[in-house]
Amino acid sequence: MNTKVVIIGGGPSGLLLSKLLSSKGIDNIVLEKQSKKHVIGRVRAGVLENGTIEMLRLAGVSQRLDKEGFMHDGVFLSFKNHGFRIDLKKLTNKNVTVYGQTEVTKDLYDAIEKSNGIIFNNAKEVIPHEINSKNPFVTFKYNGLEKKISCDFVVGCDGYHGISRKIIPKEVITTYERVYPFGWLGILSETPPVSEELIYANHGNGFALASMRNKNLSRYYIQTDLKDDIENWNDKKFWEELKKRLPSDAADRIITGPSIEKSIAPLRSFVCEPMNWKSLYLVGDAAHIVPPTGAKGLNLAVSDVFYLYNAMKEFYLSGNKDSLNKYSQKALSRVWKATRFSWWMTTTFHKFPEQSSFDQHIQDSELEYLENSIASQTVLAENYVGLPF
Ligand code: APR
Ligand code: PHB
Repeated sequence: MNTKVVIIGGGPSGLLLSKLLSSKGIDNIVLEKQSKKHVIGRVRAGVLENGTIEMLRLAGVSQRLDKEGFMHDGVFLSFKNHGFRIDLKKLTNKNVTVYGQTEVTKDLYDAIEKSNGIIFNNAKEVIPHEINSKNPFVTFKYNGLEKKISCDFVVGCDGYHGISRKIIPKEVITTYERVYPFGWLGILSETPPVSEELIYANHGNGFALASMRNKNLSRYYIQTDLKDDIENWNDKKFWEELKKRLPSDAADRIITGPSIEKSIAPLRSFVCEPMNWKSLYLVGDAAHIVPPTGAKGLNLAVSDVFYLYNAMKEFYLSGNKDSLNKYSQKALSRVWKATRFSWWMTTTFHKFPEQSSFDQHIQDSELEYLENSIASQTVLAENYVGLPF
């Protein structure tokens, strides 16, 4: 087989890039190691920046999102059991849209299938070869058969655990990492969300977040010990702990119900530099991970896609490789800013194991300052709605 671009990984990054390249007649093939059912069954965050929405519109996959997404003009923060609102719209003239990443992924699959794009699901042992040469190719196993695709470029959209980043020689790549000493226990429940807008809560017992998917589907998280076993958290215990951590007016009106999904996720900041090597380009989680506080993961993946799609478009139109050569530098500049913001949100809202009363006072004063300073609120709002691409 032959194509222009082989995309390894069919998560949101790989699918969006594929759809955009196809719309410009740039042939590409997506190789995804999991089944479609598995990919669209994963529960992830659900806050989309306006820039992300514009990219989904450009790809022609925004019909359902435009109908079903919830526009949020503000966000609530709380500390010492008391909440206050950041008016995103007033401060930035922008808002965010709540629409699950799972739905974005489904919409992308549907659109690619309708336009006869090529996705190999259950592609096993995917390996890029000869990246350092003029004739790169990718091999994989499909239904037990060995396959080979020759191409111009390989794009690694295969997440943190994927193969792509690992083939870059060690002397070329530098990685930066912070692993946080706690996790998030998240549940989905078929109950009306407690608040029309999200609530991020700092509490002496640890962080909590009230989010949503739709009018009758809530998404809640609480910070837990990383060693904690999900079996220790029956629904009753979860709701009790969540109520303690949310501001009391929200806790009083929360409607509880059985969880339909429950899992614990670790938190990590990770950046790899550069984001390309020879004919290989890394996009999304393959190159960087942010902790979910602030919901930047998918939005960052989409800004990477923006830079790479435009650079490839330019290359195939004019043969000019300048933008491709600048891809890593451009993408990383935005990645580091979102990495800083996600780290700041995480540090400001979570309880660290070694946290002293001094540290708690610093967090409290940071949040008190935020509540009372328009300058501080503007910094949060500008980052939360997303920095320009
Ligand atoms: N071969 C083929 N596919 C692979 C391989 C491999 N060796 N390794 C991983 N994959 C696939 C995974 O199965 C997954 O479907 O790559 C895909 C990567 O998808 P995501 O992990 O969702 O990463 P990405 O598409 O970059 O999405 C952006 O940012 O913070 C996050 O939650 C956010 O998942 C979202 C991400
Ligand atoms: C979610 O709805 O899952 C969500 C929302 C905001 C975050 C993280 C996750 O910061």
